Amino acid sequence: MSDRPRLLPLLTGTRHGTRDAMTCLYRCGNACDHPVPNTSDNAYFGDVVNAEVSRRGVVRAGAVGALVLGFGGAAAGALAGAAPAVAAPTTPDVPEAFGFGRPSTGVGNGALTFKPIPPNKLDTLVVPNGYDHAVVIKWGDPVLPGAPAFDVHHQSAAAQSRQFGYNNDFVGVLPLDKQGRRALLVVNHEYTNEDLMFPGFPGLDGLSVEQLRTAMAAHGMSVVELERVAGTGQWKPVDSGRRPYNRRVTALSTRFDLTGPAAGSAWLKTAADPRGRTVVGTLNNCAGGVTPWGTVLSGEENFNQYFVGADAAPAELKPKLDRYGISTASRYPSGSRKWERADERFDLAKHPNEAHRFGWIVEIDPFDPESRPRKHTAMGRFKHEGANVIIARDGHVVAYMGDDERFDYLYKFVSDKKFLKGNSWAARQHNLTLLESGTLYVAQLEQTSAGEIDGSGALPSDGAFNGRGRWIKLVSGNRSFVDGMTAADVLTFTRLAGDKVGATKMDRPEDVEPSQLTGKVYVALTNNTDRGKAGKAAADEANPRNANKHGQILELVEDRNDNTAEAFAWSLPIVCGDPTDPSTFFAGYDKTKVSPISCPDNVAFDATGNLWISTDGNALGSNDGLFATAVEGPERGHLKQFLTVPIGAETCGPFITGDNRSVFVAVQHPGEITGASVENPASNWPDGDYAKPGVVVTWRLDGGPVGS
Ligand code: FEO
Ligand code: CA
Ligand code: CA
Repeated sequence: MSDRPRLLPLLTGTRHGTRDAMTCLYRCGNACDHPVPNTSDNAYFGDVVNAEVSRRGVVRAGAVGALVLGFGGAAAGALAGAAPAVAAPTTPDVPEAFGFGRPSTGVGNGALTFKPIPPNKLDTLVVPNGYDHAVVIKWGDPVLPGAPAFDVHHQSAAAQSRQFGYNNDFVGVLPLDKQGRRALLVVNHEYTNEDLMFPGFPGLDGLSVEQLRTAMAAHGMSVVELERVAGTGQWKPVDSGRRPYNRRVTALSTRFDLTGPAAGSAWLKTAADPRGRTVVGTLNNCAGGVTPWGTVLSGEENFNQYFVGADAAPAELKPKLDRYGISTASRYPSGSRKWERADERFDLAKHPNEAHRFGWIVEIDPFDPESRPRKHTAMGRFKHEGANVIIARDGHVVAYMGDDERFDYLYKFVSDKKFLKGNSWAARQHNLTLLESGTLYVAQLEQTSAGEIDGSGALPSDGAFNGRGRWIKLVSGNRSFVDGMTAADVLTFTRLAGDKVGATKMDRPEDVEPSQLTGKVYVALTNNTDRGKAGKAAADEANPRNANKHGQILELVEDRNDNTAEAFAWSLPIVCGDPTDPSTFFAGYDKTKVSPISCPDNVAFDATGNLWISTDGNALGSNDGLFATAVEGPERGHLKQFLTVPIGAETCGPFITGDNRSVFVAVQHPGEITGASVENPASNWPDGDYAKPGVVVTWRLDGGPVGS
């Protein structure tokens, strides 16, 4: 113990719960220092009948957009009968293999089999009695065969491009076989923290261009082939052989195709890409989802912080940049990463459209390592937390999405085409195009107890925070439903479209995921300390607390249980915080029996349909963690804490395998405390020296399921 580096004190009173100032700087470019980008005065609800989008105002995207709607790249060739560019190694057998052979027909009321752990501030990963855990892979570990061994003192962009990236966030695990022995791990690398990456950190302005390029290579995604440790819920990387699926996607060099109606539009054209159809890199990939056709979606979130020079952007672009949190007041807004020193496309004074090429939903096919990932413009552009899809009863694919910013909106996308069942190569090629064309909606929520909402969080007299809501159509294919905006305008500046139609301002919509068993949708609304402040939107029934520190979970039930419906009912099953706080609510469950929870961020379901919730920025003083509750039946609201992550870290992922035997989480930004460094880390996780982000798997020692 004596030679363990000294732990730095945890700072308190920071802006996002207990989130440290260092996290604010690196993760979201000091978003809280900037004005809230949504300065619209759109009504909470109601006025939209008057503001009903004018059918007379329907406008169409230009002919260029019309040409690209539909199929892109290899998929088009495939449907035309051409041979695939790369023989698909395996056609993923979805959804059967996708779920590791789901063991249960439960509907979210299965009892959780673990004993909850207490809140704590330990610098380790804590799991319940009877469980074990292991690091699957961490920053710097080899991904591509031949990757050099990680050396923190000799990092390079070339090495990092072959190694596991920094700050893992989304976790998806896709089976490679029906026996549950091999799987592909797909992970987002949201952002880098150069203070904690480079020994002798000289300050952002002192970093070499090679260090900046190394950070770019540490962004993006990783695909890693895993094998099960026989007879257990533990998984580890395959460490020998060809590993044909292993892949790194980076901000540095990976090329992406733009698909959908805005691809090729004037907004997306740059000097380097005069056709507006190909982007280098992906930025700030936060959460995501696994699709039923075996691909992974990834949300480009706080992309604004990578750009400088917006003060010198064309005047007509400035309101559009400001709405996306790209300050036009100075060349270097607070939190700028200054990547323009390594690549001038990040200087908006020179390349003002480059910022529009980020903020999309990305789709990657992990089963085809040669495939080019795509950015789907039909799904709109905002600070995408992630996207999760469900196949509606009629076969259309519905994706639910959140825009993670204070007072921003909740969206859904409904595909034009229908999902094709079966494992044929042709069916998969068809399904790969499903997110390229469809209809984009934004949510507007109504209230049942508006007169009783005073910002305190007191439960209304009808016993529920609840109401109805509707999905307002923004664009369908090339057809816009927003006055004065073309389809390309709506898709590229979706926030402005949401403002115009009176979308409901929410408390930071993060992960949004439908239950595959019930079709109900769950939204993590993480917090919003600006709620109710002077000049800002007041509390409402869906966002019922002013200065909301702890967040809430929203449940959305589509009319007729049809995920393509244009109206829904909503309620808040969980209003987070310490259960002794009268403003908290746990679906009416006995509050003496539930775990305290703060700042819900990512949500997931186990095979029995229980809801799992990970947290980011616990404002109750404990380390962040992972929680679970049934969402149906008598156990609804019985929230229990499953694990905590080390000091300074956020709990990301999570992912529960379909056999309910393995719970994956990503430990993001361990030790991210102001003043920490490689030499003086605030966390020693996971190796006892300096802190490293990593993916962890947890399993029951007796081999049993986490939910029965
Ligand atoms: Fe990257 Fe919204 O968390
Ligand atoms: Ca009510
Ligand atoms: Ca998140």
